[in-house]
Amino acid sequence: GRLVPVETLVGATRWLLGRTGDLAGRTVVVTAGGTHEPLDPVRFLGNRSSGAMGFALAQAALDRGAEVRLVTGPTNLDPPYAAAVTRVETAAEMLAAVRAATATADALVMAAAVADYRPASPSPSKIKKRSAGDQRSLELVENVDILAAVDRPNLVRIGFAAETDHLERHAVEKRRAKGLALLVANDAVATIGSDHSTALLVDADGAVERLPMLAKTDLAAIIIERLGALLPPPRPAKDR
Ligand code: CTP
Repeated sequence: GRLVPVETLVGATRWLLGRTGDLAGRTVVVTAGGTHEPLDPVRFLGNRSSGAMGFALAQAALDRGAEVRLVTGPTNLDPPYAAAVTRVETAAEMLAAVRAATATADALVMAAAVADYRPASPSPSKIKKRSAGDQRSLELVENVDILAAVDRPNLVRIGFAAETDHLERHAVEKRRAKGLALLVANDAVATIGSDHSTALLVDADGAVERLPMLAKTDLAAIIIERLGALLPPPRPAKDR
């Protein structure tokens, strides 16, 4: 027989129920996962991001009626039903995809763990081992900051910070430096690979709110609820 997978049924039902939500008519771009920066054809620099937070945000935005564009680095997760997915590997590819996706969007929620640096000159062929005991070093160059690069007046930008120390101080400073509408900060070690997060929210006035430990799906719902309040009133349909 032709049975529809239960995830599809649940996804389609959530999508349908969400159509009348407060984000109906809005387009939200969400990034997820970590980037892979190639060293050679078989190796990369990466990080431990699972993509769980970004995928939960995409689902939460769909639940409130948004059109969702999900730009994701490599992950094993199944994307939410009805999200338009673009898969990328490197920070440079993510920048291009986010530029294209945000050109006609209302908001960008940047949950991806983008590599700050990439190998300066990836080798076209597999790098060979040298003689035993030899030391090697790796030259890195900075990646473009995607959140900063796509800044424009009508795009509401929400960023993340993963810190291992001085969480609140770094969070407040990071929000200010990037001029974000909202910054979500959490403990890098406790959060990566976990399905829970204890986050701090920093708003555009620099006010800090400490949230209790929450499932990432519940944290995502709170962030997207805040996003609804940050969006300017919808433009009349004829102006879109
Ligand atoms: N980000 C981005 N483009 C990059 C790097 C990060 O858009 N090239 C985004 C991330 O998606 C996240 C936020 O910026 O939303 C994180 O800011 P960043 O200052 O890079 O944070 P960390 O890498 O955690 O900072 P630091 O290296 O200062 O610890």
